[in-house]
Amino acid sequence: MLQTSISQQTGFAHLSDLPCLKLQYGTASAVISLYGAQVLSYQPTAENEVLWLSPKAQWHNQQAIRGGVPLCWPWFGPASATFNPQNISLPNHGLVRNKMWQVSSQQSSADSVSVTLTLTVQDLPHVQGSTRLQLSVTLNDSLTLTLSCDSVMPQQAALHSYFTVNNLDSALVRPLPSSYQDKVNDTFVDDSSCAATFKAETDRIYHQSAAQLWLEQAEQLLSLSQRGHDATVVWNPWQEKSSKMSDLQLDSYQQFVCVETANLSIDNQALTLSQQLKRT
Ligand code: BG6
Repeated sequence: MLQTSISQQTGFAHLSDLPCLKLQYGTASAVISLYGAQVLSYQPTAENEVLWLSPKAQWHNQQAIRGGVPLCWPWFGPASATFNPQNISLPNHGLVRNKMWQVSSQQSSADSVSVTLTLTVQDLPHVQGSTRLQLSVTLNDSLTLTLSCDSVMPQQAALHSYFTVNNLDSALVRPLPSSYQDKVNDTFVDDSSCAATFKAETDRIYHQSAAQLWLEQAEQLLSLSQRGHDATVVWNPWQEKSSKMSDLQLDSYQQFVCVETANLSIDNQALTLSQQLKRT
């Protein structure tokens, strides 16, 4: 009989006062911070960490936690005019990374353990009234995150996952589309390799990416399935940018890559965006 549990936990890693939930399904576990509804840890087996958390991550002073799976919503990157009609100062990647979410349901069965976290936001800069956002996290032989919002309105979103890499030089993401939007040089690039490797600062948007990607490393393969997306963002800040970020160490960029499942359309739409992770 598989051991399954959902428990409250105060603190994770050096964030010793952070309110969290821990899910356990046999030897697999996941830790979710209620601040930001941010999955911080996913271990398919004990001591085998898939996600990366910065040793300098902070959660006080409204800061977003650097690592795990931050949720970007209702805009991605800087807020464009659609999301910022009054042209005020707004944070990068939306408004929910630094909010305390509520646990709205928990379920545990022989098939999986899952929790749903909810956040109600009053008066977005571009939409009046209240909007409800949900993140459900399901753990079994994989980890599935689904971010949803039933309101039909302009909304972008991303599951901004930070993955641990042991050797950045050998890390590879594929299969990706044969062209991408390069945010470092502000150009569009054709790339017949249909893969991303990490040899310099990397900040790419791959539009209309496939439902199934792989993060490959020496002796390790991570399956990343995505639904409800229209793009995948691949990011590594490299050394110079890392050195300017207060919540990264100088060599942090060698320890992670971000592969982000995103919906970047600004049409009026409801949202269901999911990413499923499985070590094979
Ligand atoms: C990525 C963006 O998704 O997030 C990058 O493509 C950005 O441009 C990075 O630098 C980190 O953003 P933030 O707001 O967490 O520092």
